[in-house]
Amino acid sequence: MKWKDAVRVSKLKPSKPKMVNIGLRTLMIVENNGEYHATEGLCRHMRWPLGLGGKIQDGCIRCPLHQTTHRLEDGGLVEWSPFPLFPPYGKLVGKFSKKKDLPIYETRVKGGFIQVKI
Ligand code: FES
Repeated sequence: MKWKDAVRVSKLKPSKPKMVNIGLRTLMIVENNGEYHATEGLCRHMRWPLGLGGKIQDGCIRCPLHQTTHRLEDGGLVEWSPFPLFPPYGKLVGKFSKKKDLPIYETRVKGGFIQVKI
């Protein structure tokens, strides 16, 4: 495992997720309440890029497509594909893949960059 530069600190806005590629991995980086978080960048449900419209709320990232929600701190699953509620399409498409937690990565700030341990 090595520390890799992910994004300049100055390029992040609070609670605005950003997609970055490091090697072959796609990550989502976000600052929330003064802490930096790095997660797998693609939604665990149907691989939507979480940096495109993902919402940060209550310490969680919510995918804009079917609103699958994971905690930023540990990647734990909070809600799996609940949207849309009626017709129960969200629940149906939720069955297209297995429920999973969101992989997370350790972060630190060094030399003006948010670094991720990969
Ligand atoms: S792709 Fe993210 S919730 Fe369905």
